[in-house]
Amino acid sequence: MGLIRAEIDTLEDSPIVDVWRLGYGRPEVIGMFAGEPDVPTPGFICDAAARAMAEGRTFYTPNRGIPTLLDALVDYNRAQYGVTLPTRRIALTGSGMNAVMLIAQGLISPGDNVVAITPSWPNIMRACEICGAGVREVAMTSGACGWSLDLEQVFAACDARTRMIYLASPGNPTGWMIERADAEALLAFARARGIAILSDEVYHRIVYDRPVAFSFLQIAQPDDPVFVVNSFSKSWAMTGWRLGWIVYPEGCVANFEKLIQFNTSGVAEFLQHGAIAALGQGEEFVGYFAGRCGVGRGIVNERLARMQRVRNVPNQGSFYAMFEVAGVTDTLTFCKRAVSEALIGMAPGIAFGKGAERHIRLCYAKSPELLTEAMDRLERFVGEYAEP
Ligand SMILES: Cc1ncc(COP(=O)(O)O)c(C=O)c1O
Repeated sequence: MGLIRAEIDTLEDSPIVDVWRLGYGRPEVIGMFAGEPDVPTPGFICDAAARAMAEGRTFYTPNRGIPTLLDALVDYNRAQYGVTLPTRRIALTGSGMNAVMLIAQGLISPGDNVVAITPSWPNIMRACEICGAGVREVAMTSGACGWSLDLEQVFAACDARTRMIYLASPGNPTGWMIERADAEALLAFARARGIAILSDEVYHRIVYDRPVAFSFLQIAQPDDPVFVVNSFSKSWAMTGWRLGWIVYPEGCVANFEKLIQFNTSGVAEFLQHGAIAALGQGEEFVGYFAGRCGVGRGIVNERLARMQRVRNVPNQGSFYAMFEVAGVTDTLTFCKRAVSEALIGMAPGIAFGKGAERHIRLCYAKSPELLTEAMDRLERFVGEYAEP
């Protein structure tokens, strides 16, 4: 027997990281691999954290976050969704990723399974596998109107060992958003079967035709088996801070206290003061940032539409384009060669599970100038690209 558990030993490394390594630290490469903007965190957020640090807010905190931050999250959720949550249903976490891992640890026993709606950010599926679950992927299909989900396939994938259904809306990499009627049908199914829904809403503010995406918080009763994950990373340009939060069902507070205690024992207090500033004073930035992503989306969509061989799939939210190139079957090689030959960084579709094998993802949360240059490079690269 090896030293490390088989679940870890057999985990797939992310092909996104494979490509990213080729471009890391090379300023000549336009990096659109990862899901992050090219702008740093706004100054008022950094200042609040720096002030708190200078004031000596450097001690242990309550596991689920300091009371002022939990109150700020209550206010924020009320303002966005008109829903008033008790602070006992909220936990601050060390990132959205950490939130997912805590939920997986809380719900999954070895031998259980999780149904994931794909294409999906791969880390979620890996977190479930680390906890011993088999992941059943239910692939959406892409067409001229975007991505669509067949709920019947989700229901059919569930059995007596299914602990959780995972979805992200707006999605990464698809930008798909769940319709309220589908969310209601999914919730009714989950309630009846005692299966949890993990609704990943980290892109809730990166939307183009509304102020905020639909949330399961708008339809879930307090004791429904719904776990909503959110993050400071995307809406407030705080990817490097590693801050997220969970809203879990009534009755889970003691268990999340324990899970956080034994994983991270909470988040640095000075960072929490940055988060309070983001929630309380961040609306202007969020609006500006979503607008900037909208400009990037416009540039990328317009250019991809004009490229020979390229079929772009329309998205509704988040900040990724997903496209196919006629004749490209090996997206990992395509993305690796794009880094070395065209100096552009993108993510191969095979990283995102079923349904995206032939797609390529790029993040357009970048300046218009950078995106225009990136599209020029991509157009030339695609024009000449041939598989061996
Ligand atoms: C769908 C989705 N969920 C969760 C995360 C995690 O975000 P973070 O760990 O930066 O909070 C990401 C990051 O890319 C994501 O795309």
